[in-house]
Amino acid sequence: MGSISSEQQKQLLSKIATNQGHGENSPYFDGWKAYDNNPYHPIRNPKGVIQMGLAENQLCFDLIEDWIRRNPQASICTTEGVKEFKDIAIYQDYHGLPAFRQAVANFMGKVRGGRATFDPNRIVMGGGSTGANELLTFCLADPGDAFLVPSPYYPAFDRDLSWRTGVQLLPVVCESSNDFKITKAALELAYEKAQEAHINVKGLMVTNPSNPLGTILDRETLQTIVSFINEKNIHLISDEIYAATVFSQPKFISVAEIIEEEDVVCNRDLIHIVYSLSKDMGFPGFRVGIVYSYNDAVVNCGRKMSSFGLVSTQTQHLISSMLADDEFIENFIAESANRLATRYKIITRELSKVGIGCLKSNAGLFCWMDLRKLLKEATVEEEMVLWHMIIKDVKLNVSPGSSFHCTEPGWFRVCFANMDNETMEEALERIQSFVRQSEEAPVPAARSKRFKGNLQLSSKSRRMEEAIMSPCIMSPHSPLVSART
Ligand SMILES: Cc1ncc(COP(=O)(O)O)c(C=O)c1O
Repeated sequence: MGSISSEQQKQLLSKIATNQGHGENSPYFDGWKAYDNNPYHPIRNPKGVIQMGLAENQLCFDLIEDWIRRNPQASICTTEGVKEFKDIAIYQDYHGLPAFRQAVANFMGKVRGGRATFDPNRIVMGGGSTGANELLTFCLADPGDAFLVPSPYYPAFDRDLSWRTGVQLLPVVCESSNDFKITKAALELAYEKAQEAHINVKGLMVTNPSNPLGTILDRETLQTIVSFINEKNIHLISDEIYAATVFSQPKFISVAEIIEEEDVVCNRDLIHIVYSLSKDMGFPGFRVGIVYSYNDAVVNCGRKMSSFGLVSTQTQHLISSMLADDEFIENFIAESANRLATRYKIITRELSKVGIGCLKSNAGLFCWMDLRKLLKEATVEEEMVLWHMIIKDVKLNVSPGSSFHCTEPGWFRVCFANMDNETMEEALERIQSFVRQSEEAPVPAARSKRFKGNLQLSSKSRRMEEAIMSPCIMSPHSPLVSART
């Protein structure tokens, strides 16, 4: 391939193809590259990097594999299921197989403890939540419009909601002083700022349970949110893809429940839920994403758009059978929650032994670790220094708070459901000894050598969509941004 300058590329290609909105070139990818180049293996590479930056739920694959062995007819690629191969492999209605939509609607109700019901005719498919979120954005907003998003938030929203749609994300700043709760004051402030800047706010995007916090929205906060969007006449997107990862009390409350309440006044045309099986079932590779909208026009338009990101019928067929097995699903949801609760208990207990706390949470595949006391100064620059040390010296790929737009330096997201018990133990020992050493010989401010970014991104890293971070989120003072521009 001949080499072409980026200026020439800009002339040859579209703005989307040549802008940085996808975030793959972000410095945050260094952590992924470090893991990719030197992955931990207990025997072959015991000093390698442990991946704690990936929100994957791998704790219940034994249950899934067992179900698949007991139900070979559920797949069209087995002797028992092949007689349905032709009917499934040919073109299908892009609304989705009726059995699939029914099974997903039932599953969504079950995951919410039966406290909300879902109409299969409102289920629209997208390629994972990634595709579902973008599809919804295309339906709700025009380039230049904005969504408010409480921070800290999932970094790839910058890609999913903005990159191809041209929609802006404006943070609603939440702080540790009240456990990062979303308050009416914070919502109003973000809205006012947008108005002052003459930005047209079209919606509010919440993630419940939260990535990266692992917390759930309580009833009062949900009511505040619903009344806020109703008053401003803007949309509410509730990304509920971690709904079944709630592993201890209090129970998860979906916005679907809130709008059913008698005393809640709400224009349902403004309410949309995004769902997927990536986290609750642990199937991110299947790309099962769902938009559930209470707005008929959004359902209709979404259906047309979903042609660009359908779930393959082979997957729909398998998933319909699996989700329709009530006994299996109920057991799976309960067991998955138990296993997540155990992991959370172990990680928070072991971190507390070295005086490291985590935000109290009861959901998700991660905890929100507070390393503020290890920072010499409360700056993004110092957070980067500490993060690079954790990757380079401790050899753990955790995710720094600034990548989630957290405004308080020193928080890190640590994923705990993508590894086996032994790897988890090794990771915890490494963190413990790092904290002990840091306390004996504190890290001087911003003195650590910058992490050398001489790393090639392999195709294996590219699957790690979850970690993609946009450089535009970086603080203007970030050493990494200035070092590379
Ligand atoms: C809050 C949130 N939304 C959406 C996604 C994307 O999920 P999917 O794999 O279904 O596209 C993620 C993935 O981590 C997430 O955390």
